[in-house]
Amino acid sequence: MMAYTDRHFRYIMRLFTKRSLLYTEMVVGSTITHNLKGDYLNRILEFDPVEHPIAVQLGGDEPETLAVAARVCEDFGYDEINLNVGCPSDRVQKGRFGACLMKEPERVADVVAAMRNSVSIPVTVKHRIGVDDQDDYEHLHRFVDIVSKAGCDVFIAHARKAWLKGLSPAQNRSIPPLKYDFIYRLKQDYPHLNIQINGGIMDVPQVLHHLKYVDGAMVGRAAYHQPQLFERADSEVFGEPESRPLSAHEVLEAVNAYTHRRMALGDKVSFVTKHLVGLFKNQPGSRRWRQRISKLIQSKSTNFDLAEIYRECFGVEPVSSVS
Ligand SMILES: Cc1cc2nc3c(=O)[nH]c(=O)nc-3n(C[C@H](O)[C@H](O)[C@H](O)COP(=O)(O)O)c2cc1C
Repeated sequence: MMAYTDRHFRYIMRLFTKRSLLYTEMVVGSTITHNLKGDYLNRILEFDPVEHPIAVQLGGDEPETLAVAARVCEDFGYDEINLNVGCPSDRVQKGRFGACLMKEPERVADVVAAMRNSVSIPVTVKHRIGVDDQDDYEHLHRFVDIVSKAGCDVFIAHARKAWLKGLSPAQNRSIPPLKYDFIYRLKQDYPHLNIQINGGIMDVPQVLHHLKYVDGAMVGRAAYHQPQLFERADSEVFGEPESRPLSAHEVLEAVNAYTHRRMALGDKVSFVTKHLVGLFKNQPGSRRWRQRISKLIQSKSTNFDLAEIYRECFGVEPVSSVS
């Protein structure tokens, strides 16, 4: 998610789940091909080894450009290349990619084929169920039919359509109704494809419900705002009964050490700590925690201890779990 799932958030998310696949923010393919020399690519594509398994999401509509971009990402060590066919923002539409490509499945197929030819890691597609007046299931079916023939066998479908004009990206994530039944039907029609569902999924029990019908579930906003709600994903979704959620103390110790390590490399304190605001939600003291973290972000302080801040806000040692 743009401006949210950066490397620092992903590091924090990994403290809660080791097995879930994490995604980068969308990177425009031509941004990569225009910056093949110099340090900029390192800044946007480098990640910490703990972030594996990790998919890089690319945006674009030119097969040659995306083929080169995909290869660069494979060299950086990503586990999967994901193509964005879901974003309806004006900026993305101006480039004629994102959700508007739902109207051009042949073009998406060409892009997928070019990327698959240039890398050996999986190439997957994140898409909508339709755009504008594409209300019926047949459009979605046709899209998946054409793109799967280019060799894509993993589809992550945001279960609502997008309006290309008239709604903001945020409205396009809430106003068009969720149609989970379209995605379930897709799985029935294409049992050999890996069909994953996205949109409005709030926690692990809801993930488990969808997994009765499809192969995977992608969680966006809920995972960002309350990553701790996914601390049971490894045991309950991935079947690792041994995996034990970290205590608040362990989480804070890890994030504290990571933040100081990143600051020594030149990052601002806010780069990491801005992602901590949603921790400990719904606990007595969580309002103080939010205020204290906001103050820390503004202070540019280098001398802090997150466990100490926790004690100040909650009046106890951070011994229990985060959620
Ligand atoms: C701030 C923000 C940025 C997003 N950026 C991207 C993006 O870069 N690529 C993408 O495929 N989806 C993006 N999305 C959409 C989410 O991936 C997801 O499809 C959508 O929020 C619905 O899922 P959710 O209800 O679990 O959040 C973004 C969503 C938000 C809230």
